[in-house]
Amino acid sequence: MTETASPLALVVLAAGKGTRMKSDLHKVLHPIAGRPMLMHLMASADALVPQRKVVVVGAGREQLAAALGDSAELAVQDPQLGTGHAVQQAEGALSGPDGAGFSGDVLILYGDVPFVRTETMRAMLERLHGPDNPAVVVLAFEPENALQYGRVIAEDGAIKKMVEHKDATEAERACRLCNSGLMAVRGDQLFKLLARVGNDNAQGEYYLTDIVNVANGDGRVCAVVVTDDADEVAGINSRAELAEAEARWQHKRRLQAMADGASLVAPETVWFAWDTKLGRDVTVEQNVVFGPGVTVADNVVIHAFCHIEGARLESGASVGPFARLRPGAVLEEKARVGNFVEVKNAVLHAGAKANHLTYLGDADVGAGANIGAGTITCNYDGYFKYRTVIGERAFIGSNSALIAPVKVGADAIVAAGSAVSRDVADGELRLVRGEQLVKPGWADRFHDAMKRKKVERK
Ligand code: UD1
Ligand code: MG
Repeated sequence: MTETASPLALVVLAAGKGTRMKSDLHKVLHPIAGRPMLMHLMASADALVPQRKVVVVGAGREQLAAALGDSAELAVQDPQLGTGHAVQQAEGALSGPDGAGFSGDVLILYGDVPFVRTETMRAMLERLHGPDNPAVVVLAFEPENALQYGRVIAEDGAIKKMVEHKDATEAERACRLCNSGLMAVRGDQLFKLLARVGNDNAQGEYYLTDIVNVANGDGRVCAVVVTDDADEVAGINSRAELAEAEARWQHKRRLQAMADGASLVAPETVWFAWDTKLGRDVTVEQNVVFGPGVTVADNVVIHAFCHIEGARLESGASVGPFARLRPGAVLEEKARVGNFVEVKNAVLHAGAKANHLTYLGDADVGAGANIGAGTITCNYDGYFKYRTVIGERAFIGSNSALIAPVKVGADAIVAAGSAVSRDVADGELRLVRGEQLVKPGWADRFHDAMKRKKVERK
């Protein structure tokens, strides 16, 4: 986090209808790596320590208010008359409680262009303070296919004209430099320029891009910053583009994980969340999914086909194959969770093991305890949840039901097949199952009698 030279305000446009998503969820709240795309953008911009943040919204403003809380102000644009009109709606929020205009820099971003890098934003702001004192800085790129993008007609980094595809001549359409949509403008000039923008164009909209043309008319320089990374300015307009953005994000994150010292056996099958933390010498086998809130310490092994969310794995822990760790799962040092084991809101202290077919929910498993195959903590009675506490080195025999609330003491043994509903003391054996009936030779006599009967009936 480093502040920019001048005070900074963000104006994030998010009032477009997003119809191509076909969704009740606001477009900018669709998640990538488990985090709304808008929040990815805000996090990158927050690194510049902005003083003000305004998100311009049309429909779905309650959803955005809930997602943003008090981290940004909302300005409503209704109806949506174009990108220039959208930015105008932020003027009130930017001027602050005293009504004085914002005199720092304004960075205009799109909520559906979430992966602009902080360095790129910084480069735009630095250019705005260049010796030729540009009125506007536009972020442009050269896509493989220029499609419907607005064109930036520039010479030696100075913009001659901004023109939308629909308004462009054939010669202008042949220009490959495209407008990303993002701009940097000084706050004391932005709204004066916008006030002079009309809507006499192919779409009848107030184009933000026209502030460049207005400033040019005044003899001002407008500068272009070109990014060579088309991915960072890629907009997300459909579910297919959302999936592509997710794929690109995951690809980068996998490379980062490996660069940081984790082995991914089949990187393309591992899915990270935005906040996954991995230590060194971690091995992640094939087909592992990380949900949000996972921290993995050094020397952890995650075997194939695990789903892990809201969990902390301490040094030397081992998980899976085929395990599910849900929020609140903690595996302390060298604890092990094996195949078909689900852990929720439960701590396995150092060296504890649950190797097969188990559900541990709302539980505390003491260091070195062994949880036998098929053990279930019965934590829910249909109304409330209850805890199971298992002592150090306790041994829970296979196929036991621990009916919470219940405690099993240190070094205690619960015999296989027990349904334990009362506390077990330290060092106790608890056996809860029917007395065994033993009848030597009974089966032999049974078979003999039945075989004889069968012969007689023929
Ligand atoms: C805009 C640019 C175009 C650029 C392209 C990049 C203008 C006039 N055109 O075109 O030069 O190449 O982005 O993707 O600026 N929005 C509002 N209110 C509105 C209209 C749009 O908030 O009234 C928001 C949208 O939510 C979106 C962004 O502004 O985040 C861009 O809108 P969009 O309709 O995609 O603009 P384009 O026509 O594609
Ligand atoms: Mg667009």
